[in-house]
Amino acid sequence: MKNFFKFFVFFKIFLLFSFNLIAAEQSNKLLDPGWSFKGFFGKFDRAQLQRGYQVYTEVCAACHSMKYLSYRNLSQQGGPEFSEQQAKIIASQFEVTDGPNNDGEMFTRPARLSDKFVGPYPNDQAATAANGGAYPPDMSVLVKARKGGADYIYSVLMGYEDPPSDITLDDGVYYNKYMPGNKIKMSKPLMEGAVEYVDGTASSEEQMSKDVVAFLAWAAEPHLEARHKIGFRAMIYLFIITILVYFSMKKLWSRIESKV
Ligand code: HEC
Repeated sequence: MKNFFKFFVFFKIFLLFSFNLIAAEQSNKLLDPGWSFKGFFGKFDRAQLQRGYQVYTEVCAACHSMKYLSYRNLSQQGGPEFSEQQAKIIASQFEVTDGPNNDGEMFTRPARLSDKFVGPYPNDQAATAANGGAYPPDMSVLVKARKGGADYIYSVLMGYEDPPSDITLDDGVYYNKYMPGNKIKMSKPLMEGAVEYVDGTASSEEQMSKDVVAFLAWAAEPHLEARHKIGFRAMIYLFIITILVYFSMKKLWSRIESKV
């Protein structure tokens, strides 16, 4: 029995190490700027999410939709937490098609909190046609959809380089160190100073990339903070149960041991 227990502990340690090694090998190449939302106690940084929304809406939204997000999500707890008034103002700057009205006509009106984010193109084909045959993927859950997640998106944004001399690129194709195949049909979207942050933060390339990726990470997993909280409570619960079980076991067996 003792040997079995020893083996079990050893086996667990072995598993832990090998998983870590595999994980390290895979993420080795991607850039990791250090995310506030990673790890057991990870939380989003509100100011960062608000800046990230600014980058998305001023730069990325020219091509990428986020059709699963509603304007009301912007004021939701655990997110960028704009006030409801601010979210209303943001929504009202976009136009949506509604209707038909009593005359059977479709009409446009300013967006409301309940509306989904207005995309740049009427449909996927229009988006593809406008971007030289490459579809700019919807960014609602992109962080979850791509291997490497936030690190990958951040790396793509920071990974534009001059191509090595043995690679020739067609028009509208750019060299990117982290894109699979190293070729991407999106020109480098973020140059220093591309946005002027409302909160006065200096808009370096790293800063904007980090902020927008944090925003995308939240969009892909809006309940991350709640999940972490529940996980923490579950751990405390298990800890207490373990202690209780230990002492009740001791009590139960104490009678038997004393007879020997
Ligand atoms: C001018 C249009 C345009 C703008 C602006 C733009 N993108 Fe793109 N993006 C594209 C297109 C087109 C693709 C598809 C490229 C391909 O498949 O080769 C793409 C692809 C991507 C990818 C790669 C996804 C994958 O398939 O792995 C990421 C990440 C990305 N964009 C992020 C962003 C972010 C973040 C911004 C804002 C800072 C942004 N893009 C701004 C057009 C744009």
